[in-house]
Formats: sequence, structure tokens, C-alpha cells
Amino acid sequence: MARTFPDGFLWGSATAAAQIEGAAHEDGKLDSIWDAYARVPGAVANGDTPERAVDHYHRYREDVALMRDLGLDSYRFSTSWARVVPDGRTVNAAGLDFYSRLVDELLEAGILPWLTLYHWDLPQALQEQGGWANRDVVARFADYAEATYAALGDRVSHWTTFNEPFCSSLIGHVGGEHAPGLNDPRAGLAAVHHQHLAHGTAVSLLRERADASGREIELGITLNLTNAVPLNPHDLADVEAARRIDAIWNRMYLDPMLRGAYPADLLDDVRGQGLDDVIEPGDLEVISAPIDFLGVNHYHDDCVSGRPLPADHVPSAKPTDKPGRSPFVGSEYVTMPWRGLPRTAMDWEVHPAGLRTLLVRLGEEYEHLPPLYVTENGAAYDDEVSADGAVHDPERTAYIEAHVDAVADAIADGADVRGYFVWSLLDNFEWAWGYDKRFGIVHVDYETMVRTPKDSALWYARRIAASRPVA
Ligand code: NOJ
Repeated sequence: MARTFPDGFLWGSATAAAQIEGAAHEDGKLDSIWDAYARVPGAVANGDTPERAVDHYHRYREDVALMRDLGLDSYRFSTSWARVVPDGRTVNAAGLDFYSRLVDELLEAGILPWLTLYHWDLPQALQEQGGWANRDVVARFADYAEATYAALGDRVSHWTTFNEPFCSSLIGHVGGEHAPGLNDPRAGLAAVHHQHLAHGTAVSLLRERADASGREIELGITLNLTNAVPLNPHDLADVEAARRIDAIWNRMYLDPMLRGAYPADLLDDVRGQGLDDVIEPGDLEVISAPIDFLGVNHYHDDCVSGRPLPADHVPSAKPTDKPGRSPFVGSEYVTMPWRGLPRTAMDWEVHPAGLRTLLVRLGEEYEHLPPLYVTENGAAYDDEVSADGAVHDPERTAYIEAHVDAVADAIADGADVRGYFVWSLLDNFEWAWGYDKRFGIVHVDYETMVRTPKDSALWYARRIAASRPVA
């Protein structure tokens, strides 16, 4: 029996500008840090770049028609800062116009636009002035948010400031596996704090603008949150490693926003590495501006150990998920294969119960938790188009179905979850993995750009239809 969802539960799918749009240098758009980083030899698998991506910039009408056919309530997309404000300072009307056309198309199809302002594509021009490590970026972000709101605020009601700031700050500046590709802990922690500040500043600004024009809007942020599970719960080294992961991945974001303070243990963990130096009086008040929703991205738990890896451990070939990658943790980071769970093509564990645990736990741990939306969840598998022209992806369908059920179970346990977005609508540019990993529920032929809904998309459409209240 399929689980039931509350009336009004929002069913959607998500993408991001740099991963799908292409047209990287059209209509005034200039390099983002991902355009520049992808040109660094060895940075991205196969030398892939976001230059053409899946050509959504030219095919958005077709893509919106696909969404409509699937019956999506909402589409989560991002605007590209480097398209809207290519040099970091001058607004590009042609860039905004693209999003205006996209939003109109969505509204006409009866789909709620869910807009994210920052999904990792800083204008390269701002990177050259220090990027997220330079506090001036906060004012630049506020200007960008304001220009985007001025153009789209009459039609877009749901605004997300940042997507997974952990990745663009720490993986980008400390891990070095995402743009801008740095290995600089001080820059990483400065980036964390400046992104927090940019988030809070934009929330207050957009709230003020909306109030002034009598519009109802919903403002929030999307975080990638995890359950940090000690490999051996009886080994204090593993328990301590899990605490550090929980601090740096989860609480470093949640606490300043929802409690107005960085966690004390996190401040101890990173003492002397520059975070204290960038926090100015009044910052935490800005950062903790009230939000209307919290977006949760979750794909897998993180099983962690504080012990050296066993000699027979075979490391993942994946560029972004090596054991030991977690900045400032000083211990091993392990997601596989010890728990013996099935894995996706990313080598990520499939463990739907983790999503239920996470959603419930948030409500228990944060007194001022706003409503939750699962803004990303999904799986990469090595899909192929079959002789019958279809893409049979039973593993993805099973993954999504089990996670959708986990969301329903979390709601039954008391979690206030209002929607679920599959990552991703389309196969796309998977960052350091280039086009190697396919997350779409719609297959894209990268030669012809032909879109083919996979079996999982057809299943998702049926699941959405089945959950609608009977008229
Ligand atoms: C999180 C990111 O927001 C998205 O851009 C990425 O493609 C997916 N996870 C899958 O890795």
C-alpha cells in the first residue's frame, strides 16, 4: 500500500543552472568559477565542461513540457549569478530575461517556480577579487539578489538563498575538488562565514522588499545534512570522529541560522584557523534572520571512523568522495563498504531509513525549526537506452520509492515535511564527475540532446497522480 501524504504536499524535481543550461557565453554571460575551473587540466573527469551542458537555455520550453507531463507541482532551479551579473557588478538584462521567460513558461504550465540564488556558480570576476574569502562579496550577493527579485519577485514566491553551502565553501576552498579548487583552510572558513552572512543579508532584504509591495513570499536555504554514524559505536575514536563530522557538516550551518551562534565544540575544533578572525559584532544577528522553510538535501548517511583505514581498503575512484576528505575532521571518512549496503554509481550507500531519522531528528533538536522540504534526493546509475527505446532503471525507481516512503514515515513520526524534490529532472553536468554520472529521471543523449523519460520518471508521475486528493 502506497503511503499517504498530507494535502498540499509538494512534488517536484530539481536542477541547477551550471549543470543544465549551457550557453555559457551567450547573451552577455561571462565565466563562472565552474567554467574557469573546468578548464584546469584534470579538474573535471574527461575534461568535461558546463559550456553546453544539456542545452536547457535553448530547450527550456521542451523541458517545462516534460515537467508538465510528469505532473510536477514545483520545479526547483537556480539562477546563474554569472548570467545575471556577469562581471559581478553590472546587471545583464538579457540574462534576467531568460529567467523571466522560464518563469512565465512554468506558471503557464501550472508549475510553482522554486528559485535558488546560489548553486555554486560565482562570477569568475568576483573570484579574482578574492571570491567568498573577501567580505565584500556579501554586498555583491545582496545586489544580485535584489536585481533578481526586482525582475522576478512579481511571479516567484519561493526563494532559496544558497544550495549546499558546505560544498561551495569547504569542498571548493579546502578539499580543492570543487571550484575554485583551493586547498586553503582559512579561505574555506572565511567562505563559510561570508556565505552565512550573504544568506542572512539577502533574507532580510527580500523580506523587506516583499513586505513593501504587499507580497507573500517564502524564504529559506537548502543544506546538505547527514547522519554521522560512528563505524563502531563502542570505539571512542569513532564516536569523536562522528561528532566532528556532525559539527562541520550539520551544526556549523544549522546553529548560526536557527540559534544565532556557532556551536562551541566546532569553534574549538577549528580554533586558530581563521573563523574567529572573520566574525564581526552583529554578524550572528544578521545570519539568524528568520526563515520560512529549510531545504534538506540528503542522499546517504556518513559512516565515520577515527581509526586509520584497514590496509585492504580499496579507495573509491570518485574525485569528491575520498576517505579522509572531510576538512577539519582529522579522521577517516568512510561511507562504504563496511555496512554492506547496496550502493549507487556514486558509491553512495542506499539507506532510506537514514532520511527518516534525519528529518525526525531535526525537529527534536531545533526548537525554532521551520517547515522542511526535501529539496534533493535521488541516485546515479549507469543508464542505457534499450533496444525498445526506453530507459529501464529499476534501481533508481526503487531508490526514490523507498525514500519517498521514508519521508511519509518521518511525517507520521511528527516531522513537518511539506514537499519532496527528486534530483534531478535531467541527466546533467555532475561537477567534478562531468557527464559520467547520470542522476536524471529523464535521460539525455549528450550527442543529440534528445530527452527520454526513464522508467523512474514514469513511475514518479504515477506516484504523484496517486497522491492527489480524489476530487
Ligand atoms: C547536490 C548538489 O546540490 C547537486 O548539484 C548535485 O548534482 C547532487 N547533489 C548530486 O551529487
